[in-house]
Amino acid sequence: MNAPLRLPARPYALVDIRPLALAVIIPTLNERDNVAPLLQALARALAGREWEAIFVDDGSTDGTQEAIEAIARERRDVRLIRRHGRRGLSTAILEGMMATTAPVVASIDADMQHDEAILPRLHDAVLAGADVAVGTRYAKGGSCGEWEASRVRKSEFATRLAAVVTKTRVSDPMSGFFVARRDAVLDAVPNMSGVGFKILLDLLASSPRPLAVAEVPYTFRPRQAGESKLDSMVALEYLLLLLDKVTGGAIPARMILFLAVGAAGLIVNLGALDMLLNGVGLGFRAAQTMAVALSILFNFALNNWLTYNDRRLRGLAWLRGLATFTLVCGIGAIAQVGISEMVYDERRVWWVGGLAGAAVGAVWNYAASSFVTWRRA
Ligand code: GDD
Ligand code: MN
Repeated sequence: MNAPLRLPARPYALVDIRPLALAVIIPTLNERDNVAPLLQALARALAGREWEAIFVDDGSTDGTQEAIEAIARERRDVRLIRRHGRRGLSTAILEGMMATTAPVVASIDADMQHDEAILPRLHDAVLAGADVAVGTRYAKGGSCGEWEASRVRKSEFATRLAAVVTKTRVSDPMSGFFVARRDAVLDAVPNMSGVGFKILLDLLASSPRPLAVAEVPYTFRPRQAGESKLDSMVALEYLLLLLDKVTGGAIPARMILFLAVGAAGLIVNLGALDMLLNGVGLGFRAAQTMAVALSILFNFALNNWLTYNDRRLRGLAWLRGLATFTLVCGIGAIAQVGISEMVYDERRVWWVGGLAGAAVGAVWNYAASSFVTWRRA
């Protein structure tokens, strides 16, 4: 049996502790070797301020969580949030920001690419009245450091696109490095998409009132250790975020992806039917049965990889997911036939019936599979 936990002789004298001024949120995914150097750099930069560090980790497998906890055990101003069954930079940062009561919050990458030396100036800008103070690479005095020309061009293009949705003029809306009033973030949270990487852009576009933005230039540094997680998925997520903002959130980004996958699945279905029927020479029923099965498998695999990349099923869960997805699609097909028949009976136009059935089937498949197959952990 465990020995009973003993309380300290003197109850904590809470009055001795000075109020927290700033919480620094650090998202991590396999950043073990950056943890200690980053905390040292932050301590140097923020000397004299009451601050805390909150790491938000999405299941690192390289010992990042252990490295953070080894330090957090000794210091109550270092904390770790471990997330399960969820992925994504924006939501990680948001959850970190909501886990503190500090009036001002900061977002900084773990890999030391953001120059922490400007944090005091960013913090001061917020104390002086800005809602958000952004570390920018594009204002005078800032730069992208050692980026290749192609990445600079892509980043500039994405920045120009962003101007469409932000209500405020910012030179670097893609920056992941900023300090903000916590209440400004809380006000925007209900409207935020949380898709992908671009939390600052999301914040500026989702705030119920235009935010007062200050900028401090810095030079983006090369990565210290580990590797970047920015891949082609990030570009796609970025477009979805913009779409989400342009349509005022009317169509969820996930549904757009799901429908696009479904359209691709239809092509797979027809292609396979053609091959099996006309190529292999199977009978229609056998060929179409196999073609439908193939397209369900295709839809499941692609949705799992793309649409639900933040909740990706693996191993045994993948097989179970395929089973429930097949079931959902089966019920969807029955509903689809039923609805199209009903509409056809009334309107007597074959394609109106067909379209109505397809629309209901697609929405059912999307809604039901999001509950059953890719349920939030
Ligand atoms: N918790 C969590 N979950 N952290 C993540 C995830 C995730 O899914 N993906 C990435 N991170 C963490 C990384 O561990 C790192 O600390 C930080 O987020 C940034 O990830 P990088 O992979 O280093 O991104 P980058 O350097 O390519 O992009 C940075 O610069 C961009 C400017 O071009 C980020 O700051 C972007 O937000 C910024 O737009
Ligand atoms: Mn990085």
